Amino acid sequence: MKKILVTGGDGQLARCIKDVSSKYAEDFTFVYRNSLELNIADEEAVSKELEYGTYDYCINCAAYTHVDNAEKEKEKAISVNHIGSKYLAIACKKHGTMLLHISTDFVFNGIKRVPYTEEDIEEPLSVYGSTKLLGEKEIKNNTFKYFIIRTSWLYSEYGHNFMKSMLKLGKEKEELSVVNDQIGTPTYAKDLAEVLLLFIVKENTDYGIYNYSNEGTASWYDFATAIFEISNISVKVHPIPSKEYPLPAQRPNFSVLDKAKIKEALKIEIPNWKDSLLKACKTLN
Ligand SMILES: NC(=O)c1ccc[n+]([C@@H]2O[C@H](COP(=O)([O-])OP(=O)(O)OC[C@H]3O[C@@H](n4cnc5c(N)ncnc54)[C@H](OP(=O)(O)O)[C@@H]3O)[C@@H](O)[C@H]2O)c1
Repeated sequence: MKKILVTGGDGQLARCIKDVSSKYAEDFTFVYRNSLELNIADEEAVSKELEYGTYDYCINCAAYTHVDNAEKEKEKAISVNHIGSKYLAIACKKHGTMLLHISTDFVFNGIKRVPYTEEDIEEPLSVYGSTKLLGEKEIKNNTFKYFIIRTSWLYSEYGHNFMKSMLKLGKEKEELSVVNDQIGTPTYAKDLAEVLLLFIVKENTDYGIYNYSNEGTASWYDFATAIFEISNISVKVHPIPSKEYPLPAQRPNFSVLDKAKIKEALKIEIPNWKDSLLKACKTLN
């Protein structure tokens, strides 16, 4: 039985891991920031947890994820996404723990028009993206046994995410405007959770960076209309360009990820985003 530490236990991805973890005969420990069990930005606490826990794996789901607030709260984003990742990498190396870390499509500038591979040059457009990239670099520099999984547009039945916001707005409003010139792939956090655990159960040791999202492409407008269609919510959705919905943080216009590497490494087929959205919406009904 493998010992697995999951940080950021209150977040949507960690909660999805908890849901799927019951299928696996492994020993999971979930730690939370708010109950003061593990703040990853606290070097001593991280070091002690990794020392006493004698974990085989650490799945780092802890992150500062407020993309727009990060533009004003740079120090907070750095302390978690950059420095916290560094502390985890150092402690993981010291105690022989394999680190599975989650990163983002927001490390790219969105200028490409074909899916981003793991080898593409990063150029984040936002503070959030920059701090996540710095976290990746710390992991690469401080440990060998790591998997960095870059994902995009995560949603689930937990926490704050686009699907839940749309379901709420769809019930309150008759009309909505949603941007249609940012193209990416929505990813059901439960699908990602399953894939993270596959790295562990398959005892993969081909360390490095991997992309994972659901299959297919969509704009936020496509994502919103699919949510309303599946949920039988009748609301008029207007497609608008990003410039008509200015936000503090700039997003990549195109951030579709190429998943060939992870499909080959884990021998998996990835569900299309619409099929996964259907599953996610069903869990809410
Ligand atoms: N959400 C997306 O669309 C998306 C897209 C691409 C990649 N990702 C990446 O996927 C991963 C999981 O994201 P998610 O959507 O599950 O995020 P989430 O729901 O915001 O969860 C992150 C969790 O980390 C906790 N946390 C923040 N600072 C911490 C600290 N110093 N120590 C310990 N825990 C801390 C947060 O607690 P508080 O709530 O108390 O702050 C929260 O419970 C992250 O690495 C994120 O960057 C997310």
